[in-house]
Amino acid sequence: MNKEKNLKILVTGVAGFIGSKICKKLIENKYTVVGIDDLSNGKKKNIPIGIKFLKLDLSRKSSIKKIPKCDIIFHLAGQSSGEKSFDYPIKDLEKNTISTINMIEYGIKNKCRKIIYASSMSVYGEPSNKSLNEKSQINPISCYGVSKITSEKYIKVFSKKLPYIIFRMFNVYGSGQNMRDLKQGMVSIYLSQALKGDKIVVKGSLDRKRDFIHIDDVTNIWMKTIKSKKINKIYNLSSGSNYKVRDLLKKILDLTGKKKILKMRGTIGDQFNSYSNNYQISKDFKYKKFINIDQGLKKFYTSEKKLK
Ligand SMILES: NC(=O)c1ccc[n+]([C@@H]2O[C@H](COP(=O)([O-])OP(=O)(O)OC[C@H]3O[C@@H](n4cnc5c(N)ncnc54)[C@H](O)[C@@H]3O)[C@@H](O)[C@H]2O)c1
Repeated sequence: MNKEKNLKILVTGVAGFIGSKICKKLIENKYTVVGIDDLSNGKKKNIPIGIKFLKLDLSRKSSIKKIPKCDIIFHLAGQSSGEKSFDYPIKDLEKNTISTINMIEYGIKNKCRKIIYASSMSVYGEPSNKSLNEKSQINPISCYGVSKITSEKYIKVFSKKLPYIIFRMFNVYGSGQNMRDLKQGMVSIYLSQALKGDKIVVKGSLDRKRDFIHIDDVTNIWMKTIKSKKINKIYNLSSGSNYKVRDLLKKILDLTGKKKILKMRGTIGDQFNSYSNNYQISKDFKYKKFINIDQGLKKFYTSEKKLK
């Protein structure tokens, strides 16, 4: 019996897009999972069968007493939209930063081996006119970016008691994304409009550049952290490619057979360019074969068509 397989993994944000996918993979690999979500943005139907689920708001300190002891924390719960962070900055701070402080306290009390944290490329902010790496300047321009970098800093100051890995994830896409939420997820926003109507509304310049990473690559890399000896490190979790928004749109229009784009003013706090090399993550996690955007989009499109 593989001892590592007896590990109990805590997945926060388990009813959300990325948390639910990682949780499924953990179950496939026979790990025991405790999942937490307050269902503020996640859906009950996303929660995989076979886990112990607790509906808890992690921004409340009282919640942490209710969570059973686990070995590793996968902390993905949080407010995930840059645009919404301006509508509700205090809620954003509570859901991202206060929740993280509570999870650190939980991790220390329960002597967890490590916390893996879902941070974001938003911590870099602007100017970002060249490829980013983990040493690039930090200058968030959204409330979301501020709450993510603040969470990272709390994690770092407690690292002697609770080791960490921080993933600054770029634009994650793929099946399971919330197709009804038009304020989070560039690929899902455009694809859902193309599937439902005859045009895609685009807020902001078509020349913005993004780094799209498929959900399968993201889950594979999170899984690798369980056995990895790397700790107290920050990684850009990106595909290492960059596409202009107009390139992505063309691919989506070609796939769906739609033709029209309606351009509108950009949203507050939206970075112009955001793409990174993935040298460090590829090297440390021995992960080289990232799904390219054409394969990934086709996969996503096919799964959405099946649901219709
Ligand atoms: N999707 C991306 O491209 C991306 C990129 C970078 C970082 N991230 C981060 O990764 C994480 C997961 O993203 P996602 O796309 O799955 O978002 P999501 O909104 O689908 O999932 C987040 C989940 O956290 C839950 N949640 C929020 N606040 C909570 C709280 N206080 N207590 C308990 N549960 C709470 C929500 O209900 C939701 O189910 C988020 O922290 C997000 O900021 C996502």
